[in-house]
Amino acid sequence: MSSLTKRIGQWVCTLNSGGLHRNRAVVLATLFCAALLLAVELSGQQGPFDGLFSFIPNGTLYPNPLGASRTINVNGGGLDLANPFFQSLGTNGRACITCHQPSDGMAVSAAHVELRFLTSQGTDPIFRPVDGTVCDHGVDLTTVAGRADAYRLLRTRGLIRIAIPVPANADYRVVSVENPYGCNDTATIAAYRRPLPATNLRFLTAVMIDGRESTPLTGTQTIRYDNSPGSLLADLKQQAVDATVGHAQAAVPPSDDVVTRIANFELGLATAQVFDRRAGLLSAGGAQGGPQPLVSQPFFVSMNSSINPLFPQLEQPGGLVTPGDGQFTSDVFTIFQAWANLPPQDPRAAVARGEAIFDSKPIHITGVAGLNDPASQGGLAPGGVASLNGTCGTRHDTVNVGDHSYPTPLDIGTGDPDPANPSVNLGGLDIAYLPRVTVCKLDPASGAVTADCKTTSDLGQALIDGKFDHVGKVKGPVLRGLAARAPYFHNGSAATLLDVVRFYEKRFGWTLTPQEESDLVAFLGSL
Ligand code: HEC
Repeated sequence: MSSLTKRIGQWVCTLNSGGLHRNRAVVLATLFCAALLLAVELSGQQGPFDGLFSFIPNGTLYPNPLGASRTINVNGGGLDLANPFFQSLGTNGRACITCHQPSDGMAVSAAHVELRFLTSQGTDPIFRPVDGTVCDHGVDLTTVAGRADAYRLLRTRGLIRIAIPVPANADYRVVSVENPYGCNDTATIAAYRRPLPATNLRFLTAVMIDGRESTPLTGTQTIRYDNSPGSLLADLKQQAVDATVGHAQAAVPPSDDVVTRIANFELGLATAQVFDRRAGLLSAGGAQGGPQPLVSQPFFVSMNSSINPLFPQLEQPGGLVTPGDGQFTSDVFTIFQAWANLPPQDPRAAVARGEAIFDSKPIHITGVAGLNDPASQGGLAPGGVASLNGTCGTRHDTVNVGDHSYPTPLDIGTGDPDPANPSVNLGGLDIAYLPRVTVCKLDPASGAVTADCKTTSDLGQALIDGKFDHVGKVKGPVLRGLAARAPYFHNGSAATLLDVVRFYEKRFGWTLTPQEESDLVAFLGSL
């Protein structure tokens, strides 16, 4: 790329934070950049812009329904399009960027997937039958209407079909699978999952929704205090191998050099909302929004964990360890505290109030497998805690990031049917579009199926380690860049952030006033 193009690119898309104001120029520049970048992304490998850009500048703003996000390479130089992350490494035209887009907080928003369907008539590389269709058989991909139907969960909820065989040594049996799309195999279970953001990865303590890229199943390791960050790098490298062979259908796995470059590139990314259409620039007036403060955010595995200090000695492969600093603070997020004393009608005060609700409003936590069940062993809370007065931070304790600083898979019920109305989950959100999988525990002595059964839409961790006690347990994701990647929860059941908040209200009897609901939504949308 010529240095002139480079400079024009930087000039157009890089807005110095110091000079950013809540004005029309920002909005116009944002929209212009978005159109430009969308064109680049839509054009794929051989498009009209091929060769024109060699990197995306760090300052690029990506508009979303609530404002704009930014993804930066903390090592400088912007997003280097020569990195294999952006290249087709398999046989079906897909690259990592296909499902992890800078415009979508390094994941995909369903709205943008739908746009890609419309502009490509369902031929964009994200639309591939290997895992993009509702099922791998019984679909017609020869017509646009057929493709629209086959890719409907991807178009409307941004869901990818992840099929995993039931472990041979599972202590349960899959007794039935009711899959609305025909994928009813009880030996290999199809789950429907949202792409996780391939950014802010420095803060991860488990890779993948079910944590499988941090387990022996994939030849990877648990991310621990004493082996991080080497374990994280190794896990991300294996993840890149598996994504290339799986999603991109590569005939041979990528080389160690290629996956090392991918993993190091991803580890250098930081993403957050920078501009909110109501509150304006999220780093103004002393606030710490946007990705830049994440670069220096202190972190170590089990930092600020609310769970481990209760049970300080944890059994780990290799013996008992005392992780973390035992210094739990429920003030997990502090980035908008500087706005707390603004006049109440100022939209920035609403964001600060939402942050305070997140940090301090008590939630009575019951019935969460992984926390409240007697089987909460395996490095968590031996014996469980029948009920716990917590906050949002009990689950989302990584300071200013919001995932769990210690690998803590939980089942809060986003994928579990409400017994009174199986078409909704335990928080009242529609899950009729998801399969219903029923598994029953086996009697350890006789191997016979017992009456101890569970029904859920996604077996989660139980599909990785074969443990009945782990049915439905999934990891808590990073909460930054949310506005760029609706819908929410691992199965896309929450269309909006308000749906997310209402899920918690119904699930935990957590009562918020309409004002508190909208404040919390304003905060989540500003992350
Ligand atoms: C077809 C879409 C698709 C493609 C292509 C794709 N991914 Fe993903 N990615 C997903 C989905 C879906 C998940 C979550 C799946 C799960 O947890 O079971 C995911 C999860 C991840 C995660 C886990 C993040 C976390 O918080 O645990 C990383 C990292 C990642 N992908 C990186 C990559 C890389 C690197 C590539 C290219 C080699 C790639 N992905 C290609 C869809 C895709």
